Amino acid sequence: MTGRVVVLGAGGHGRVVADILALTGWTVDGFLDDAKNGSVSGLPVLGPFALAVESGFFDGRAAIVALGDNAQRAALSRALCDCGVTLATAIHPSAVVARDAVIGAGTMVGAGAIVGVAAHIGRFCIVNTAASVDHDCAVEDGAFVAPGARLCGGVRVGEGALVGAGAILLPGAVVSPGRTVPAGAVLRASPSPGP
Ligand SMILES: CC(C)(COP(=O)(O)OP(=O)(O)OC[C@H]1O[C@@H](n2cnc3c(N)ncnc32)[C@H](O)[C@@H]1OP(=O)(O)O)[C@@H](O)C(=O)NCCC(=O)NCCS
Repeated sequence: MTGRVVVLGAGGHGRVVADILALTGWTVDGFLDDAKNGSVSGLPVLGPFALAVESGFFDGRAAIVALGDNAQRAALSRALCDCGVTLATAIHPSAVVARDAVIGAGTMVGAGAIVGVAAHIGRFCIVNTAASVDHDCAVEDGAFVAPGARLCGGVRVGEGALVGAGAILLPGAVVSPGRTVPAGAVLRASPSPGP
């Protein structure tokens, strides 16, 4: 799917998302942002976030929320969905995505990221630059896999969780919803309870 799109959030992450969308054939009309105006990376800041709920603003346009804060990104994405706005998905052309991987609406997959066989990435997630999410992983809605993090096979990342930059999640590891895995940490699967 391509077409016209507006990026919510004109910070560093928003600029990366806009770049990915433009590289993959979208026409990026501009940003919405409460703290910026004028132009950012050559694209106009069309107004504050409040414009998103004005009737007609998204006629003929998709949206993607490009905020690093998981709770804010999920809340705004859900509000847009409730208003019937289509969420764009931004997958960098250099990302490697298995044929049967699933990537939800409103999710960003960054440059050099890898999403393996039968992996399932939820809605409005971030799989950031050079992160890898191996076979059979599940990354639930609104979660964030930071740059260079490595998820081995069968890892589960709960809703709204953050896997810090460069963390390594060994096979079968589980991150509870909303939790943070520290940058550079190694997380293994919990031993299964005995008989
Ligand atoms: C783990 C983390 C959440 C801790 O944040 P915090 O609660 O604000 O903790 P602080 O920064 O006050 O650090 C507390 C202590 O833990 C240490 N620490 C913090 N993060 C650490 C990490 N990733 N690995 C090892 N030690 C860490 C600090 O050096 C400090 O040690 P000290 O008490 O001896 O001085 C945070 O450092 C982190 O790793 N977040 C992930 C960030 C990330 O990858 N974002 C991606 C953006 S694209």
